[in-house]
Amino acid sequence: MDFVKEIAEMLAKTNAGLTAEEISGMIETPADTKNGDYAFPCFRLAKTLRKAPPLIAQDIASQLEKPDFVSDIQVVNAYINFYVNKTDTVKSIISQFVENGAAMFKSSIGSEKVICIDYSSPNIAKPFHVGHLRSTVIGNSLKNIYTALGYKVVGINHLGDWGTQFGKLIVAYKLWGDKEAVERDDIKELSRIYVKFHQEAENKPELNDEARSWLVKMQEGDKEALELWQWFCDISMKEFNRIYDRLGITFDSYAGESFYNDKMQAAVEEIREKGLLTTSEGAQIVDLEAYNMPPCLILRSDGGTLYPTRDISAAIYRKKTYDFYKCLYVTALDQNLHFAQWFKVLELMGYSWAADSLVHIPFGLVSLGDGKLSTRQGHVVLMEDILNQAVEKALHIIEEKNPDLADKEKVAEDVGIGAVIFDDMFNTRIKNIVLDLDRMLNFDGETGPYVQYTHARACSILKRAQYNGVSSDIDYSLISDEASIALAKAVGDMGAKVKEAADKNEPYIISRQLIEICKQFNRFYNTNNIMQSEDKQKQARLALVDAAAAAIRFGLALLGINAPESM
Ligand code: ARG
Repeated sequence: MDFVKEIAEMLAKTNAGLTAEEISGMIETPADTKNGDYAFPCFRLAKTLRKAPPLIAQDIASQLEKPDFVSDIQVVNAYINFYVNKTDTVKSIISQFVENGAAMFKSSIGSEKVICIDYSSPNIAKPFHVGHLRSTVIGNSLKNIYTALGYKVVGINHLGDWGTQFGKLIVAYKLWGDKEAVERDDIKELSRIYVKFHQEAENKPELNDEARSWLVKMQEGDKEALELWQWFCDISMKEFNRIYDRLGITFDSYAGESFYNDKMQAAVEEIREKGLLTTSEGAQIVDLEAYNMPPCLILRSDGGTLYPTRDISAAIYRKKTYDFYKCLYVTALDQNLHFAQWFKVLELMGYSWAADSLVHIPFGLVSLGDGKLSTRQGHVVLMEDILNQAVEKALHIIEEKNPDLADKEKVAEDVGIGAVIFDDMFNTRIKNIVLDLDRMLNFDGETGPYVQYTHARACSILKRAQYNGVSSDIDYSLISDEASIALAKAVGDMGAKVKEAADKNEPYIISRQLIEICKQFNRFYNTNNIMQSEDKQKQARLALVDAAAAAIRFGLALLGINAPESM
């Protein structure tokens, strides 16, 4: 039974003057169950009914007839609170699960509308550092969340594969490069010579001129220049893919910045035709003073294109190609101005979709705490080092806790990487994070391993009980204690949390719900002796365990985390 729908239909029959659909969207689930399982706030009705909201609440409540599934209706200030019959709550949730499995947490509200998500987007020939970790895991999780809601998601890796760094890299490679060393150490060697270039160029500025002329050669299609460029790209992609594989992340498009080389001219012309382009100190800009922003740079004085130029033509291309409903850009907060500027340029160009459908999804900084995270290479912390250290530590813990576990290495990989991902998305995105392996791998904290461990515990109960999943006639009234009901509700809320996470573009809504389910699960587990309960009750309880395990697995998958069955 869909309680929200039932309650909404009941309210729609009163003089509230709203349709059941409108009411559905207004019904809330109170944080404290003392205030009911569902609540209808009457504030918005004050305008049409011309009465104080608390009086409206009283009036509407007096028109309601309590159906069987509702145990009580109470008015508190402007809220009408509904208390659902306990047995009905449990019954509704478990039977939905028995019928649909984890599909009960999904929905089709996205109705196949297209959402492009631009995430990860590292720069070629530069190390994949901790900052890119955030974009990668947040973007991937949003992709999973929107997919679960029936949107068609296009994951785009907007690789930084064009620009001045390549001219510098070619010069550096020609002066100090060694083919074998690059093939052996890939990005590490490339970034070594790239750093050396910057050091040397301080005293020899002519190196910069050389770099510029190599970039021009690239732009003109010079064979040698392009071969080297392609080689650098291939080497970088090999390393990036190694990380993506470990994280289980894939993209639908790898159209990076270079993809727009032959498309930018048209965009620049269009900006010019619309009279938006002005010259400033030799460069071509769009003046944004009227919008309290510095100008958006479109062409450098030497005619070269810039980061915003590429983003503008990419957005136009994506709109044409995918006809997106939204296009999300997951990058660090420090790119706020960049996005605000070129979003505005598109709007001024007359693309009315720009204002509503382009969304920057910013996130805070990552810093290193004293969580014993060593850096191998000076101050650049490579993402792979972090993953390796987390996995190593996870293996160590598993060896202590459960030395006989089969497949220890695989489980340690899932737990170590899961710990890093979960920690990244445990708080609202904008909050800075401090990397601390001790904290993220604490099995008793609010962490990935804690959630994975709870899931494994649920799986082991089902295994020991030889539970086979087919439970057609469950007597739900046998589950009536508070802990069980709280667990059922936490499981039942997962679907609504997926919608909330999408509304706010906040994966932490999912991680918090996972913690809630796990806490309730452990309470349920400690207060109910599942194995010793008599047969009928045991079946009912096992069904609840099964649903909880599925909800945890589902939530972890949304975050991009594996759920081992034993740990
Ligand atoms: N490559 C950029 C960086 O590492 C991120 C690109 C984000 N996407 C975009 N369309 N601008 O900072």
